[in-house]
Amino acid sequence: MIDVIGLSKEYIDGETSVKALDNINLHIDSGEIFGIIGLSGAGKSTLLRCINRLERPTSGKVLIDGVDITKLEGSSLRKMRSKVGMIFQHFNLLMNSTVYENIAFPLKISGTPKHDMDKTVTGLLEVVELTDKKDAYPSQLSGGQKQRVGIARALANNPGILLCDEATSALDPATTESILNLLHDINKKFGITIVVVTHEMAVIKQLCDRVAVIENSVIVEQGRVIDLFSNPQTQTSRNFLKDMIAKLPQNILLEDDNPNEEVLRISFIGNDARKPFITNMIKQFDITANIIAGNIETIQSTQVGSLIIKISGGKDNIISSVNFLKKNNVRVEVLRNGNI
Ligand SMILES: Nc1ncnc2c1ncn2[C@@H]1O[C@H](COP(=O)(O)OP(=O)(O)OP(=O)(O)O)[C@@H](O)[C@H]1O
Ligand SMILES: [Mg+2]
Repeated sequence: MIDVIGLSKEYIDGETSVKALDNINLHIDSGEIFGIIGLSGAGKSTLLRCINRLERPTSGKVLIDGVDITKLEGSSLRKMRSKVGMIFQHFNLLMNSTVYENIAFPLKISGTPKHDMDKTVTGLLEVVELTDKKDAYPSQLSGGQKQRVGIARALANNPGILLCDEATSALDPATTESILNLLHDINKKFGITIVVVTHEMAVIKQLCDRVAVIENSVIVEQGRVIDLFSNPQTQTSRNFLKDMIAKLPQNILLEDDNPNEEVLRISFIGNDARKPFITNMIKQFDITANIIAGNIETIQSTQVGSLIIKISGGKDNIISSVNFLKKNNVRVEVLRNGNI
């Protein structure tokens, strides 16, 4: 369990100062996969580095299982750090060491006896499916294989928390998917808490239970991934989701002043996706509905849909139709020129 309470971090360099984090509050449950999404410079890496105390916050607290780690020093700090693994965008492997030696490195540092070290490394090589590469050097590996070594190394001290800083940003989509699947399996197998920092909504969608959106050092929105997808509260979140929200094709022109026609963007989640609400609306209100664009995603086995429909009919029936959709838990945006 991780609690971040009123966390701020200011970098001071001579006369200039940069506020990288401003009053961050987060609660991350044990065993959950939590995402942090934000643009470059938002403060994501700084936040992760405060969680493992590579960085000392300017103010606020980070509690790990109730212990305030901002106060730790010396051997208790080292012990805490060994229980928080981290993986990086560019893998940060020792290039002159073999795969085996890279994974064994943290165990060597912590003075693990050779026999135990062998056993742990052999087990981890199996987990990340690199047993046959044990004597290879990083330069002989693909990006995905290098990240697997990074993951195995991060797990060597059997940590309770794994921090991932843009761990798939240097990888192609297929390799990204295999690494995300591996992280998911590790979470299930070892019950490890995973914090994922990314600028890609696809990563959040595939892996995370909950998410925080960070912008200019501040968390602007946080909650269940499914809620973010179905009902984003901030423009920042909408920007991250823009590839997944149905868009009006350029050849469709809106007629803002036609009372007998409306173009709607409707969003719905879960069981609502199986309810024939569009059919029911057409039957009940004597209108026609034309689907113009659509996107339906499956997020953690729940469907999240975004459709653009044009409804035509009498003015009152159009108003009743919009109300009917809202009553059926469908989010409705009436599209107007200048508001698409
Ligand atoms: N060691 C440092 N000294 C001074 N300023 C820093 C330092 N590290 C980060 N910053 C500044 O703090 C802000 C947040 O940086 P951070 O690296 O946390 O962002 P980020 O969200 O991880 O970005 P990216 O997606 O590019 O990795 C930026 O303005 C950055 O320039
Ligand atoms: Mg970063």
